[in-house]
Amino acid sequence: MRAVATKRPKEDGLLLFRRSNPHHNLLQKEREPHCFRSSVACLSGANGYCIESMINREIATLQSSLLPSEFCSMKAARKTLISEELRQRFSKAKNVLVLSGAGVSAESGVPTFRGGGDSAVWKEMPFSVISSAEMVERDLPEVWEWFNYRRGVLATLKPNSAHEAIARWQDRFDHFTLVTQNIDGLHQAAGSREVIELHGSIWRARCCDCDARHNIRDLKFDNGVPACFDCGGHLRPDVVLFGEMLPAGAFELAAMKAESCELCFVAGTSAVVYPAASIPEIARAAGAYVVEVNPELTPLSDLCDEVLPGKAGEILPLFEK
Ligand code: OAD
Repeated sequence: MRAVATKRPKEDGLLLFRRSNPHHNLLQKEREPHCFRSSVACLSGANGYCIESMINREIATLQSSLLPSEFCSMKAARKTLISEELRQRFSKAKNVLVLSGAGVSAESGVPTFRGGGDSAVWKEMPFSVISSAEMVERDLPEVWEWFNYRRGVLATLKPNSAHEAIARWQDRFDHFTLVTQNIDGLHQAAGSREVIELHGSIWRARCCDCDARHNIRDLKFDNGVPACFDCGGHLRPDVVLFGEMLPAGAFELAAMKAESCELCFVAGTSAVVYPAASIPEIARAAGAYVVEVNPELTPLSDLCDEVLPGKAGEILPLFEK
């Protein structure tokens, strides 16, 4: 089944769908100015990694592009500069949360996941196949070959001005939370501490037998499957793959922080992968001012109080000027 952009979701369907999530009901009541609200349809349980369809509440296939061109063309870029209100809020805020996605690392040279269709990324396999739970079961050496290739690419890359700005922000506010979907470790390389990594890290491995986690940044192996340093079992990348659950507690912690923040930035994410994309929804429902930084509009754009169209590396440093 492939989600196709045909029409806007009806409000009654949206309410019905969101009934199961208390955040969504609250959100629904609060969101008056927005004509097009993102709707969500979960493919798996609360913390299961899944992609949402905003179209007719269909459950999307993992290959679906969820930013249909019809949707994009209806919208014009809203703001190119940071508003005075946002500057004021930024300067007075005590509790700030940032949710980052692949776009924040794009200016470092890390390819984003979406935008190029479902093209082959490794040995003629699309990302959704090579990075899947099924592939770990079927061919773990091949998964490692793919992740070793990615580690090799990422090892050469450096944080950009977006990572650096976000790292500076942690010392600027009384409470600051960075939640990332990125597995590249570039936030930490820029100096960010206590990053909530919703999708794991390419620099860690996890034992399939005893669940021990190991830092593998300096581990060199060209082929095969590395053995657990504790029990000798098979290691696998400590990354959330298609069809898997998020690390225990990571989403819960991020959601708790989202509920208490007053200013929430959503930077460089297509906002189609859940539950990560629900973090700004939770923040907004709890009363936070939500700001999106992205060159493109996303299903979350209409939920945001401000949309800053552009590159994270160019826009985020402007807040300190
Ligand atoms: P996507 O590739 O889905 O989206 C990247 C977003 O970044 C797009 O909306 C782009 O418009 C935007 N973008 C590109 N360049 C940018 C820039 N310089 N500054 C700001 N934004 C920019 O990446 P994610 O939303 O992070 O999961 O994808 C979510 C998850 O899907 C990933 O964590 C990954 C993938 O499946 C796992 O691997 C578990």
